[in-house]
Amino acid sequence: MSSENQLPLFELGEIELNQPSKNLIPTDGKLPIPPGTYDNLSELSQHCRDCQRCQLAQTRQHVVISRGNPNAKIMIIGEAPGQNEDETGLPFVGRAGQLLDKILDSVKFNREEDIYICNIIKCRPPNNRVPTPEEINACRPYLLEQIRLVNPQIILFAGATAVRGLTGDKRGITKIRGTWMEWEGRLCMAIFHPSYLLRNPSREKGTPKWLMWQDIQEIRRKYDELCT
Ligand code: URA
Repeated sequence: MSSENQLPLFELGEIELNQPSKNLIPTDGKLPIPPGTYDNLSELSQHCRDCQRCQLAQTRQHVVISRGNPNAKIMIIGEAPGQNEDETGLPFVGRAGQLLDKILDSVKFNREEDIYICNIIKCRPPNNRVPTPEEINACRPYLLEQIRLVNPQIILFAGATAVRGLTGDKRGITKIRGTWMEWEGRLCMAIFHPSYLLRNPSREKGTPKWLMWQDIQEIRRKYDELCT
């Protein structure tokens, strides 16, 4: 084989090395994981469990990927795992999660059947600090793949970090909560994060808990209209 013929082969080899493949996760969080990388959620979960794309890999106990029904029509996206979630590997199992359950129960959503729950990032930030933009960006391709594979009809963002992390919308949660918006062709709504509701327990008219009650009823109404 002449050297002219060999050159393109070497170039091809290099291109392949730079492309994330199913068996190779880019450990640099800035490198992309292209849409369509995963055929299913279990392939994605396997990669997430081995992920080293950001510094949180060093301090986590478990990678927290999801819970609920992968075929659910509603996806809830929270902020980040806390201590209970880090210990168990499941999102929203602590006090905030229990309140979220009650909110869902109140309009007869079954958390295991009707809902798929995940977070903007999959590893606990030390001391539950807010995730950094680098951590959010490193984890983002996994979340985008989860959304593609679950293909929910409705996405709920629990709290401002979730909205900002995915859509870039920097408006405050009190401004945008309760209104339907579109992101990437999907119907979405921001709701208060349940931890915020734990800190604001009043149920009086106009308070966060009261507003949450209005929002979950509207979500139930829309779900019945679109999904049943
Ligand atoms: N808060 C979140 O945003 N996500 C969890 O999984 C738990 C608490």
